[in-house]
Amino acid sequence: MQITRRGLLAGGAALALGGQVPGGSALAQGPALITKPIPSSGERIPVIGLGTARRYEEARTDADMAPLRETFARFSALGGTVIDTAPSYGNAEAIMGRLVADLGLRPRLFLATKVGADSKEAGRAQIEQAFRNLQTDRIDLIAVHNLRDTANQLATLRDLKAAGRIRYVGATTSFDRQYQDFEAMMRDEPLDSIQIDYALDDRGSADRIIPLARDRGMAVFVNLPFGRGRLFKATEGRPLPDWAAEIDCTTWAQVFLKYIVSHDAVTCAVPGMAQARYVDDNLKAAQGRMPDAALRRRMEQFIDAL
Ligand SMILES: NC(=O)c1ccc[n+]([C@@H]2O[C@H](COP(=O)([O-])OP(=O)(O)OC[C@H]3O[C@@H](n4cnc5c(N)ncnc54)[C@H](OP(=O)(O)O)[C@@H]3O)[C@@H](O)[C@H]2O)c1
Repeated sequence: MQITRRGLLAGGAALALGGQVPGGSALAQGPALITKPIPSSGERIPVIGLGTARRYEEARTDADMAPLRETFARFSALGGTVIDTAPSYGNAEAIMGRLVADLGLRPRLFLATKVGADSKEAGRAQIEQAFRNLQTDRIDLIAVHNLRDTANQLATLRDLKAAGRIRYVGATTSFDRQYQDFEAMMRDEPLDSIQIDYALDDRGSADRIIPLARDRGMAVFVNLPFGRGRLFKATEGRPLPDWAAEIDCTTWAQVFLKYIVSHDAVTCAVPGMAQARYVDDNLKAAQGRMPDAALRRRMEQFIDAL
């Protein structure tokens, strides 16, 4: 992924977050996206990526593919690079591979997938299929999915990294019941990244897991940033509070995402998006001013009071 740093930053909090990237693309439209570094390499990625669970799982016909193609093209045109998928998301990996190949976007993307298998052999086979599905000979990040057969899968991922076939090794969960084991694994295993659930109304991972990632030098990818739509239901019909304008938010989605990516140890949130209008909306959370600590507290108090 080509990264070009721009001198022009949008505001004080953007400065605190780091740099911005115009998507490494001559096609990138509009203001640059705020980026953060992956601690193990210093490589900067935009703070908002694209999640492919559910809405990308079932597409089969051209009619199914059309909105996904439009979403993906829009995401890339606006400077988005990080795609999060998994072999357990139905056809999502293969669909992403088709879109990446059709649109010729592979060099500009950061492709992240997962391995979820019960033996070394099954994990290897699944990973080889991921290379075929994604139509690439290098995957940027593969993470062990939900602590499944962790030791064996991490060994395989480290071999792949040493061989230069993948660039980063990670682990993911979104289940509170796995937090204790996940934390223990983070203490034992050197990882480039973790992926964890974190949202304005789901802040448990900020108690120990996200700070531990910071201490251990791991990038933090955030899944379920809207609680799978739960936050939209909680705020339905409510006008944005006055403070939203202080952080350049014009929608609830931007408020929810800016809360996440303004956490100093969070690297990138991956909201599920299968509509181009969501991309237009959500990528604005990677632009403009970010909440400081005091405003983050007000945001928490607001949601807790609903
Ligand atoms: N353990 C793991 O590794 C793990 C677990 C869970 C998720 N993940 C990853 O995290 C990603 C995100 O999770 P998720 O997609 O399940 O949940 P989510 O990001 O919390 O919510 C996504 C849903 O929010 C709605 N939405 C998105 N942008 C919107 C906008 N601007 N305005 C209004 N509504 C909007 C869409 O709902 P509609 O489509 O219904 O309109 C979308 O499907 C997944 O796609 C996956 O890549 C990983």
